[in-house]
Amino acid sequence: MALLLNPPAKVTFMPHLSSRRDFIHLMGGGAVLAATAPLAGCSSDYPAASVAAWQGPGGEPDVRRWALAHALLAPSSHNRQPWRADLREPNAIALHVDRDRTLPMTDPWFRQIMVSQGTFVELLVIALQERGLDPQVQLFPQGEPGEKTLDDRPVARLHWAPGAAPPAKDPLFAQILRRHTAKVAYDTQRAVNPGQVEALKTVLPAGVTFGATLEPARVAALRALCLAAAKVEIGTPRTMMESLRLMRVGPAEIAQHRDGITVMSPFVRAMAALGLFDRTQVPAVGSTGYRGALKRFEEHSLSAMGFVWLNTDQAGARAAGRIRASQVEAGRAYLRLQLKATELGLQVHPMSQANQEFDEMKPWYDQLHQQLNGQSVSERVVQMFCRIGHCADQPHTPRRELATMIRA
Ligand SMILES: Cc1cc2nc3c(=O)[nH]c(=O)nc-3n(C[C@H](O)[C@H](O)[C@H](O)COP(=O)(O)O)c2cc1C
Repeated sequence: MALLLNPPAKVTFMPHLSSRRDFIHLMGGGAVLAATAPLAGCSSDYPAASVAAWQGPGGEPDVRRWALAHALLAPSSHNRQPWRADLREPNAIALHVDRDRTLPMTDPWFRQIMVSQGTFVELLVIALQERGLDPQVQLFPQGEPGEKTLDDRPVARLHWAPGAAPPAKDPLFAQILRRHTAKVAYDTQRAVNPGQVEALKTVLPAGVTFGATLEPARVAALRALCLAAAKVEIGTPRTMMESLRLMRVGPAEIAQHRDGITVMSPFVRAMAALGLFDRTQVPAVGSTGYRGALKRFEEHSLSAMGFVWLNTDQAGARAAGRIRASQVEAGRAYLRLQLKATELGLQVHPMSQANQEFDEMKPWYDQLHQQLNGQSVSERVVQMFCRIGHCADQPHTPRRELATMIRA
C-alpha cells in the first residue's frame, strides 16, 4: 500500500508519508502546513471501540462466543475478516466464507481468503482447548468449492462432546492477544537468530512444509523479487484500485469499517479533510505518485532480514480433491508460526505480492516458486511467503464486532 501524490491538487494513497514534515517537503508549500496545523496534535491511536477486541472477551459466559472472540483476532489478507460463524448446531461451530469480503483482483482464485479461514480455525481450536473442550475439525464437510470459485458451503465444522476429557492446553494461547503484523521497516542492524527460525518449525503440523533462508545472497534475491512484484501490483490499475478502495483514513472511517488498510497519520487525515486525497484513480506508472507508492514496499522488502514460507503439496492435494483444504491447513499452520514468532520476539510479515494469481503477476509468481522450492506450482504451492526481522511492536489493527460475524 502506498499514498500517491498527484500534483498539483490531488493526493492518493502514500502511507509512507508518516510525518507532517515529509508532507510539507513534498507539497513544497506553507499553505499545507497551515492546513495540517489543526490536526498536528491529534492522536494517532485507533478509535478505542475498533481495537477493543484485543482486550479479550473477559468473562463472556458463552464458551463459543468466548472462543470466537479470540478467533476474530486472526490475521487475514487486507484485514478483511472474511468470516461467518453459524451457531445453530449445539456444541459446534460452522465457519463459512463471508463472500462480501473477498479480494477478487489480487486474489482472483480466493486462495488467500481460504488461508485466512485457516488462521481463524486454528485460533478457534486453541481457544476451545483452553476452555477444556476437544474440538474435532472437519474441513469442507459438505465438499469443497472449485479451485477458482467460492460457495456458501461450510469451510469447517468444529464440534465437540461436552463432558469429554479435556485435551492438553496449547501454550500458544498466551500469544493470541499479543500477536500482530508489523508493517514497518525492520532493523537492518539486527540479524535473525537461526535458532529462532528452527524454533518456528516446532509448532507446525504435518502436511504443510516450511522453508526459510537467512543466507545473504538468497535474501537479496528475494528482496528484489518482492519489489519487482510490488511494482506489478501497484502498476496494475485494478489491483491498485482494490487497495485504494479498502483504505480507511482517520477515526471516522476506521470506526465505520473496522477493517481494511487503516491510516491514522495526521497529515493524511488533513489531506482527506481538505478533499485533496483522491482514492478514485491510480497514478500513472513512473509518476511522482507511483514512486511514492513504491517507497513503502521498498522499506519493507529491503529491510527483510530473512524469509520464511509455507508450502503444500499441490499435486497430492489435487489428486485427493483437497486443494481448498490444503489452503485452509496452510492458514492454520501460518497462525501457529506467527504465534510462535510472537513468543520469540520475532516479527513475521506476509509479502504476498509475488504469490498472487492475477495474470500480470504470472512471471513473478512462477519465479517465486522456482526460487523458493525449485519446483513448479503444479507440484508444490507456496501458500505464505513472509519477511522476518525485528522492529518495535506496532499497534493492533481494528476488528469488527463479533455480532457482525455470527449467523445465528
Ligand atoms: C493470507 C494472508 C496474506 C497476507 N498478505 C499480506 C501482504 O501481502 N502484505 C501485508 O502487509 N500484510 C499481509 N497480510 C497480513 C494482514 O495484512 C494482517 O493480518 C491484517 O492487516 C491484520 O493485522 P494483524 O495481523 O496485525 O492482526 C496477510 C495476511 C494473510 C492471512
